Amino acid sequence: MRIAVCGKGGSGKSTVSALLAKQMAKTKNVLVLDIDESNYGLHSQLGMAAPRDLMEYFGGKKSFKEKQRAPKTTQFRGLATTEGAPNQQSRFFKERWSLSDLPLEFVEEKDGVRLMAVGKIHDFGEGCACPMGVLTREFLENLDLGMDDVVIVDTEAGTEHFGRGVDKDFDLILVVIDPSYESLKLSKKFEEFGNQCGCKVYFVLNKVEPDIREEMLNSINYVNVIAEIPAKREIFKASLIGGELDFELEDIAKLAEFLENYSLIDS
Ligand SMILES: Nc1ncnc2c1ncn2[C@@H]1O[C@H](COP(=O)(O)OP(=O)(O)O)[C@@H](O)[C@H]1O
Ligand SMILES: [Mg+2]
Repeated sequence: MRIAVCGKGGSGKSTVSALLAKQMAKTKNVLVLDIDESNYGLHSQLGMAAPRDLMEYFGGKKSFKEKQRAPKTTQFRGLATTEGAPNQQSRFFKERWSLSDLPLEFVEEKDGVRLMAVGKIHDFGEGCACPMGVLTREFLENLDLGMDDVVIVDTEAGTEHFGRGVDKDFDLILVVIDPSYESLKLSKKFEEFGNQCGCKVYFVLNKVEPDIREEMLNSINYVNVIAEIPAKREIFKASLIGGELDFELEDIAKLAEFLENYSLIDS
């Protein structure tokens, strides 16, 4: 199952991704894929070191861009394929990967959760993040998942990943909504994009407090709300010091259960 976690910056995408990954890892093989080039806290929320950029596996961004320009003819499981041919294989991956084939030097792991990061912007003026979008798409297209495998993709803020076509292969999109006008408005945009790429969109209300809950629910299509995560001081404090989110939340457990049942219905 492939899950995209989307939302406005600061809404709680990484928090929800980390908590959900830890919960789902109790019964599933979980890979968290960090595609947010400005995300610096996700690995600490998972209690891990930062993984090396997957972009380095391909020789870095410059070399990746050169490969991107190369003609699309590659060997795929011994068969030469050309542009447009069936079984067109990626220019970057020589063979298909499953979770057990992931290059270990680019994977951090703890308590059954694996973490990979596509790449970060490291230096001033190094150019746009578009190659990261291409790599994300190709990585996801090239990954074979079993029944018990779950990939949780922590996306960058906003909607750019939709423009890059990254979202077309997800089973579902979770939109994390915090109590802000922007977040609530953006939820409509995510619904539209979900419809366009044929992917079901669900909402996770985050930082919910009793006196604003009603207002949040009234401002969105509440039929698709599948979780409400309360505002918790302990989450906020842990993130402030780069600490691990090492506690269980009933609402996250319910969300994980929903997703597990969803994948059963879906398969
Ligand atoms: N349920 C919550 N209760 C309290 N603070 C939260 C909650 N969810 C997220 N936060 C805080 O909000 C901030 C942004 O969260 P983060 O997950 O980094 O957002 P994003 O990945 O969407 O940018 C962090 O300081 C985090 O601790
Ligand atoms: Mg984040």
